[in-house]
Amino acid sequence: MSRSATLPDRLRQIRQKLGGLMHSGTSPAASRLDDAAVRAAYARWAPIYDIVFRAPLYWGRNAAVKHINSLEGKVLEAGVGTGMSLPFYKPDLKVTGIDLSEEMLQKARRRTAHLPYIDELVAMDAGNLDYPDNHFDVVVAMYVITVVPDPVKVMRELERVTKPGGTVILVNHFSADTGVRAMIEQGLKRFADRLGWNPEFPKSRILGHTSLVLDFEQTLPPFSLFTLLRFRKPEA
Ligand SMILES: C[S@@+](CC[C@H](N)C(=O)[O-])C[C@H]1O[C@@H](n2cnc3c(N)ncnc32)[C@H](O)[C@@H]1O
Repeated sequence: MSRSATLPDRLRQIRQKLGGLMHSGTSPAASRLDDAAVRAAYARWAPIYDIVFRAPLYWGRNAAVKHINSLEGKVLEAGVGTGMSLPFYKPDLKVTGIDLSEEMLQKARRRTAHLPYIDELVAMDAGNLDYPDNHFDVVVAMYVITVVPDPVKVMRELERVTKPGGTVILVNHFSADTGVRAMIEQGLKRFADRLGWNPEFPKSRILGHTSLVLDFEQTLPPFSLFTLLRFRKPEA
């Protein structure tokens, strides 16, 4: 999207992009996407991702970065996307970002070219991380766990690369297990593609499959739709 485009031009471009995305039947967060479909979907989302998702996902990113900035050492941001959180990390951290989508990463690289604390931004599958065991002090995945085809596999990888005593932080929408909200989310499930996230993804799907201990949980705006989960990896 060129800087000189007028507002009507920009709106037209956004409408065309969104139209293409809807017709493709894919969304940024439909959990049934396989890796190829995720790459294809985010290649289309990349040009307009920041415009659409900066505001609604702001609170979660902000809350996660606050936690991370209270910690020290090497950070992995899995599913870093266009790197919207990266400028807000404190400069004495050493931050690595990975993402499946090269198009999203290109935007992240442009955004962070001047930031010395960014170690690398590389194309990689969060379910198959090319890092040794016990490598990072902090691992974070924001709005990612409901996008991947095998969330448990990703949780195990996040656990594996975290140092004993280290921290794993997730931010996501999680659905309720019971009650009225659960019923609404069940009903919304069939609109997952259009909503852009999977409304039916209970927390229980990712809990209890690793040694990670949930030690903090916070509900986040807008409308308490999102939750931050902080886990500690037990000392060996
Ligand atoms: C909803 S976006 C969130 C991006 C970013 N975390 C943010 O806060 O804006 C989800 C991101 O996860 C990435 N992603 C999806 N599946 C992935 C996987 N298996 N491994 C790594 N990244 C993945 C997508 O390419 C996309 O950039």
